[in-house]
Amino acid sequence: MSNKKILLTGGLGYIGSHTAVSLLNSGYDVAIIDDLSNSHIEVKDAIQKITGKKIDVIIGDCGKAEDINRAFEECGPIYAVVHFAGFKAVGESVHKPLKYYKNNLESAIETINACFKYGCKNFIFSSSATVYGNAQRMPIVESDLLSYTQPYGETKLVIENMLCGICKAEKDFNVIMLRYFNPVGAHESGLIGEDPNGIPNNLMPYITKVAVGKLEKLTIFGSDYPTPDGTCVRDFIHITDLAEGHVKAVDKIGHLENNIEAVNLGRGKGVSVKELVDTFNEISNGACKAVYGPRREGDVPVSYADVKKANEVLGWKARLGVKDMCISAYKWELSHMEKK
Ligand code: WQD
Repeated sequence: MSNKKILLTGGLGYIGSHTAVSLLNSGYDVAIIDDLSNSHIEVKDAIQKITGKKIDVIIGDCGKAEDINRAFEECGPIYAVVHFAGFKAVGESVHKPLKYYKNNLESAIETINACFKYGCKNFIFSSSATVYGNAQRMPIVESDLLSYTQPYGETKLVIENMLCGICKAEKDFNVIMLRYFNPVGAHESGLIGEDPNGIPNNLMPYITKVAVGKLEKLTIFGSDYPTPDGTCVRDFIHITDLAEGHVKAVDKIGHLENNIEAVNLGRGKGVSVKELVDTFNEISNGACKAVYGPRREGDVPVSYADVKKANEVLGWKARLGVKDMCISAYKWELSHMEKK
């Protein structure tokens, strides 16, 4: 009997590629559709090299019916879809909202349409802690109030609401919405990792580029927050733990009490920006020069997850710590810089 095949939209990206590796290592077959708008085709070879297994890759836009249908036609039958595809730069979404509404919503709608067209009943959605907006109560629980502060987060929330409406109408359509906190780090091989185009918006890729001399110094945005050391607190989670959380979701989908569930994927621990930078400098012999600067507009002081539901519903818990995240991110940047 052949293995269940999982279709990853945007599967050549940071989270998609790590999830592909974990799914393959867990006995699933993997197909990917990716338009390479924020990823690189070389990632296909890296995934195959790490796992020793072949994957199908369709270069196309899952927001176009003819492309996503081609993926199902050529790679099917598909047991489950994990929908990663979408633009994800919070800052850019503020300046180009229509680009985000069009791309992120069309990608989701066309992919869900194709699931129904080809009889795929299982849909896992790459959501984000950003749907909690400016949450005040910590740790954040899945049933807490949802809101958004920028168009990127708004698209995630709109898609979540669409999925709720679809699952109410279609009781045999199963959905798990995974709300990521702050994914950081890279696969232990150093062959795949976070590879943002241009100057990174996110913290860890900025740190590693400073550490290898591609950028001069890190500016820590704000040191006057109401937190123990004055810098923001986040729930940083190792990308490998995050990927394993997706495998658990694929394992469990269709066997849960409800046909739609939202689940936080975090470590459930708050770590400050300064603590992360200090840990990185511990493992890199002080490679990241950092200075304090003004707050960044839109940042929330504290955000970390309640992870009870992930443990109870998915049987998943993050294992790796902040040091592992820093070591793996640094190894990726060092190995990756040789290629560029
Ligand atoms: C983390 C902390 C910054 C860069 C965003 C999205 C979220 C998810 C992850 C997609 C903040 C500080 C950062 C720098 C800094 N993405 N920082 N100097 O904003 O928590 O979450 O990315 O799903 O949806 O909202 O992540 O890495 O940008 O920032 O001091 O050069 O690091 O102020 O406190 P964020 P981040």
